[in-house]
Amino acid sequence: MKGLILSGGKGTRLYPLTYTRAKQLIPVANKPVLFRVIEAIHDAGIDEIGIVTGDTAPEIREAVGDGSRWNARITYIPQDAPLGLAHAVKISRDFLGDDRFVMFLGDNVIEGGISSLIKQFDSSQWNSQIVLTEVADPEHFGVAELNGDGQIKQLIEKPKQPPSNLALVGIYMFDAHIFEAVDAIRPSWRGELEITDAIQWLVTNRHKVFPYIHKGWWIDTGKPTDMLEANACVLEELTPHVTGMVDADSVVDARVTVEAGAQIINSVIRGPAIIGENTRIENSYVGPFTSIYHDVVIENSEIERCIVLENSHIADVPLRIQDSLIGRSVTVKHSTRKPKSLKVNLGDHSRMWIP
Ligand code: G1P
Repeated sequence: MKGLILSGGKGTRLYPLTYTRAKQLIPVANKPVLFRVIEAIHDAGIDEIGIVTGDTAPEIREAVGDGSRWNARITYIPQDAPLGLAHAVKISRDFLGDDRFVMFLGDNVIEGGISSLIKQFDSSQWNSQIVLTEVADPEHFGVAELNGDGQIKQLIEKPKQPPSNLALVGIYMFDAHIFEAVDAIRPSWRGELEITDAIQWLVTNRHKVFPYIHKGWWIDTGKPTDMLEANACVLEELTPHVTGMVDADSVVDARVTVEAGAQIINSVIRGPAIIGENTRIENSYVGPFTSIYHDVVIENSEIERCIVLENSHIADVPLRIQDSLIGRSVTVKHSTRKPKSLKVNLGDHSRMWIP
């Protein structure tokens, strides 16, 4: 079996972070979402993985490399324009050959345990397996309507009047019949070849498509709030370890990971949380659901339910920073300089909320 990861897209809803970084490389619990996807596929025993890339291809290649870090072989498949998930399958034909494969969206984060499902499909007689989950806003996804016997009646992409609340999660398993399907369908109203239409084609043409209903959490990380939510969920799953230094004046609770070279000085860290390599937390409070990436300094400040990326510096901030996504090499500092006012250097599409 092979793996296919879709890692294109501009990530406009995550501006300004995605002006300078591919959305799939933004870390949750200090690991890029794309790396988590590679690991999930590799855990299913798959070591040949294709990554479909768009404008951010150079950055994705640089971060992932040849896959040897995971004992996997990575092939890059450039997609000239974002013409849809089914188009991505089409252009991956040479890489996939006649093998069964799992396709994963590179910006989706799902509760662990999906790997055994992928393994099962490998030895099954099904032509396709799709993963469904209940959502509150099905109109934003591909939606499945099931028959009384639990089999698929129909699949519709972003229906105005959803026939159910079962959304298609960004994980799909196929055999080579999918190539007939992607050749048969036409672009949707948004000009894309929709994978949902291709799977509907399989159903219509009496191929066996098995729906699996996922009961755990699943997050399609489009917006900053999704990143924070995914970060919270993954932190809860993490097995903590303390490799860095915690001094005698600090309180670090059981669900906290302190990575190598990190220093916790006279501070309180409440889990679940992760403090990255060579980061220093001094005279500060780090609350639950916070991920601080590597080489960050936080001094005399309080922070909770945030993601802070590498090389940032937060010092002497008089308010608790909460529910925030802070990019790379950002400075947030208290200033005594007159006039007493808010002084900011915000990038395009930055957002700031002042209490
Ligand atoms: C895509 C699929 C949709 C699926 C969703 C999952 O939507 O077209 O069927 O439910 O991924 O994340 P898109 O992100 O392209 O709007």
